[in-house]
Amino acid sequence: MDGIRLHVNVDHIATLRQQRGTRFPDPVTAAAICELAGAHGITVHLREDRRHIQDRDVRVLRETVKTILNLEMAATPEMVGIALATVPDLVTLVPEKREEKTTEGGLALLQPETERAVGEAISRLAAAGIGVSLFIDPEPEMVQKSQDLGAVMVELHTGDYTLAPRGEKRDRELARLENASEKAGELGIGLAAGHGLDYTNVRGILHLPGLVELNIGHSIISRAALTGLSEAVAEMLALMTYV
Ligand code: PXP
Repeated sequence: MDGIRLHVNVDHIATLRQQRGTRFPDPVTAAAICELAGAHGITVHLREDRRHIQDRDVRVLRETVKTILNLEMAATPEMVGIALATVPDLVTLVPEKREEKTTEGGLALLQPETERAVGEAISRLAAAGIGVSLFIDPEPEMVQKSQDLGAVMVELHTGDYTLAPRGEKRDRELARLENASEKAGELGIGLAAGHGLDYTNVRGILHLPGLVELNIGHSIISRAALTGLSEAVAEMLALMTYV
């Protein structure tokens, strides 16, 4: 397929549901709407504290997603067991801290403990035919390490780029993304990017050489909440006049 694929992260639909302990809004329904609108894949992060996506969501999504199901998770034996049982199309390994609001940085692949955990997870998943992508900071050495560990893809962390003010600082972050992308091209490893991408900054990275996939969540779900609001109010008003 030509062009860059969009994988929509629907975690925050589940955040809203968990907040009220209701059955809605349902990330499975959201995923279907994203697919109908043209998304090329659906991403969910099953966190260890289960703050948004639940195990059942992953199982049901595995049955309903018709495009690509990308399961983001920590490189722990528990998560690897879940991935082996559900067989997503792709697993993206991410670092995870309980206290963080969202994933804060790329995998620390140069730390022996992380390297071992990631290496073990990749070999168990690869043995089951599941491709693994690693969420990394945009550094050539991290791209190299990802390939050495057996990843088929890297997802470059765009968070620093998205937070940098326009000007020199942002240019520096773009240069980091460009260097890491070139390294991925040299090695022939798949290239994705994500985190913090929104309607104002996404176009700034579309030129990255070899970029095939973006994972975007917060900005799309946030915009949907606002662009859908007038319709939701009108529907409620229509019901009220009926009574
Ligand atoms: N990629 C990874 C690896 C992530 O952990 C997240 C956040 O769950 C995203 C992409 C999406 O980030 P955002 O919600 O800021 O678009």
